[in-house]
Amino acid sequence: MLLVIESTCDETAAALIDEQLQVRGSSVATQDALHQRFGGVVPEIASRAHVERILPVIDECLRRAKATLRDVTAVAVANTPGLAGSLLVGLSAAKALCVALDVPLVAVNHIHAHVYACRVASGVDIFPCVGFVVSGGHTTLFNCRSPLEFTVLGGTIDDAAGEAFDKTASLLGLPYPGGPYIEKAAVGGDPKAFRFPRTFLNEERLEFSFSGIKTAVRYAIAPQGTEVVAPPPGSKLLADLAASFQQAVVDTLIGKAEAALKRTGYSTLCVGGGVAANGSFRTQLEARMKKLGVRLFIAPRELCTDNAVMGAIAWERLRAGLVESLELDVVPGLER
Ligand code: KG4
Ligand code: ZN
Repeated sequence: MLLVIESTCDETAAALIDEQLQVRGSSVATQDALHQRFGGVVPEIASRAHVERILPVIDECLRRAKATLRDVTAVAVANTPGLAGSLLVGLSAAKALCVALDVPLVAVNHIHAHVYACRVASGVDIFPCVGFVVSGGHTTLFNCRSPLEFTVLGGTIDDAAGEAFDKTASLLGLPYPGGPYIEKAAVGGDPKAFRFPRTFLNEERLEFSFSGIKTAVRYAIAPQGTEVVAPPPGSKLLADLAASFQQAVVDTLIGKAEAALKRTGYSTLCVGGGVAANGSFRTQLEARMKKLGVRLFIAPRELCTDNAVMGAIAWERLRAGLVESLELDVVPGLER
């Protein structure tokens, strides 16, 4: 069985997965509470927390699987992309286990794994497809020819979609991570109350830019030269701002997914990443893809935010003989 380790950002996770891609055990320790008062992930705090949690998380995963380390025949670890200090904790743990157990080491690209969450959850072949990762760190469209051949069709030139949710939440006086709080605040709000930008939506390019929308929200709250005062909790203004912001992001994401399907000629779309947990996005995307006759897979909510189960993509590498030496390093930057 394959033991997968994930520590790219602020979740420490482990999963035990058999060759039929059945999840035998999984464990995730989130650090949201540690970073909340800073309004974002503090890298140094994240890596220290990973050090404390990594072994208990692996133990918990094995306990849930009713397995022991003796059942592990390979260890996989997400070594790119992410925060350098966070990645190093997972990689070091994985290498130590490989040496101790004398089993092969497999590398996982965290972003590709977000798409593969759809494969694990559905149990059916999803390739070839357009892969779409909408997370706190990435908003990327991929041409996924096979599990081992991903090429980038387009990404964000500034903020990621999740980052826009997080920054806008902070403007609106909502806690970190902003996505789920904006979703809740938007209930009952009018998505047409404010017209926020849908950047590049009507252009050919498959790129995203979300920094302008955050600025637009800022000026909707307080005109230039005046101080930002967050709308009162529970107010109609807060609900309208949240709903209008969310709708602008959703429109942009759906429009670009459609354009990528057109560009590739594929009829399957696979979506993952934290923002794909958003109910409004899921419902509207489902309706639109149904209309277009596109086969749509959205990762289940618990596999949208960071987890180790999606690292099951390592089975594909293992089967293809793609194992790593103990020289394997972390690659924090976006790998293509
Ligand atoms: O995939 P993820 O856990 O971490 C990265 O790899 O980045 O994504 C985290 C991001 C955060 O920005 C968070 O605000 C966003 O996903 N998110 C959501 C929702 N749940 C999480 N955004 C919108 N609506 C949600 N329900
Ligand atoms: Zn992620």
